[in-house]
Amino acid sequence: MRYVIVGTGNISNTYVSALGKLPNCELVGAVSRSGRALPSAPELPIWSSLDAVDQAFDAVILATPNGLHHEGAIEAAALGKHVLTEKPLDIAIEAMDRMTEACKKAGVTLAVCYQRRTRPDNIAIKRLMDAGAFGRVYAVDLAAKFYRDQAYYDSGDYRGGYSLDGGGPFMQQACHNLDIYTWLFGLPKQVMSMLGTFAHNIESEDHGAALMRHANGMIGSVVASTAAKPGFAARMEVHTEKGSFTLTDDVVTQWAVEGVDNPSQPGEAYQHDGATSAAVTDTTAHEAIINDFESAVKEKREPLAGAGSSRLTTELILKVYEAAR
Ligand SMILES: NC(=O)c1ccc[n+]([C@@H]2O[C@H](COP(=O)([O-])OP(=O)(O)OC[C@H]3O[C@@H](n4cnc5c(N)ncnc54)[C@H](OP(=O)(O)O)[C@@H]3O)[C@@H](O)[C@H]2O)c1
Repeated sequence: MRYVIVGTGNISNTYVSALGKLPNCELVGAVSRSGRALPSAPELPIWSSLDAVDQAFDAVILATPNGLHHEGAIEAAALGKHVLTEKPLDIAIEAMDRMTEACKKAGVTLAVCYQRRTRPDNIAIKRLMDAGAFGRVYAVDLAAKFYRDQAYYDSGDYRGGYSLDGGGPFMQQACHNLDIYTWLFGLPKQVMSMLGTFAHNIESEDHGAALMRHANGMIGSVVASTAAKPGFAARMEVHTEKGSFTLTDDVVTQWAVEGVDNPSQPGEAYQHDGATSAAVTDTTAHEAIINDFESAVKEKREPLAGAGSSRLTTELILKVYEAAR
């Protein structure tokens, strides 16, 4: 498929590199309001808007701030182009509904780059969870304690603000981990939370904690931070009727579940930059998302991270923010 990237900032580098490694993909050029070239492919053409693109293409990759994903998706759908958006789907319910509806009406695929869903151990746990292999799940504790310096927030005047980033670490960094949480356990029915801003001059939280109760009684807890210097691997501890297991950066690192073998898949090592940096230099999970996107388009099936399931993640984050207010 032939792609146009919308947005030529940080994450565009990951796509230039990922697309370059996938033999069936072609990057045609990019859209930038400011006319900034793709830093990793400065030779490619730049257009000021999607409808100005004068070369054939099949799909867009939305690499713009979180609160602009719906605009890009609606524009792409109007042109009949498939949409792979960076996470989150968007930051508001109405925006997510509008973009989903526009893509559905236009008959184009809408996928979200929640690339941690492609990690082998997350997939194995998802299969076991869906098959009921753990019996009743009692509790899940998620720690997404990352670090960003003030220079990161100063690198874009929207960063750490509610209008375009949609919030702090809950919406921007830990949304990946909360996405795995909602993918595995669904939405809670009750949320309590506390947020604070400690280490940065930003509008949103840079640290917070939430407690969640699910319909089956499961109690979830999550800590999300960009103030946890120097930045830690993400940990999810799951306690069930059959025993407990821990995922550390999407790999099973502890397993004590009666009657179920540790499903940890060898897989290739994945370099997580997220604890300390916004750059994604290991492109393998993005490549897996692009491959799944292309298959979903061809097979006319729901992508691994489609709009319906990805919407839950933003819904949960909005509930955390609402509870804190
Ligand atoms: N999957 C992951 O692991 C991962 C990692 C990092 C980021 N992301 C996601 O990728 C997206 C982009 O993040 P990024 O770090 O690449 O951001 P960035 O470096 O700030 O780049 C954003 C780009 O969007 C364009 N843009 C269009 N309208 C804009 C506006 N009103 N304000 C600011 N920029 C605007 C900018 O180019 P012009 O102004 O020239 O149009 C800019 O190049 C976000 O949704 C983020 O959550 C995902």
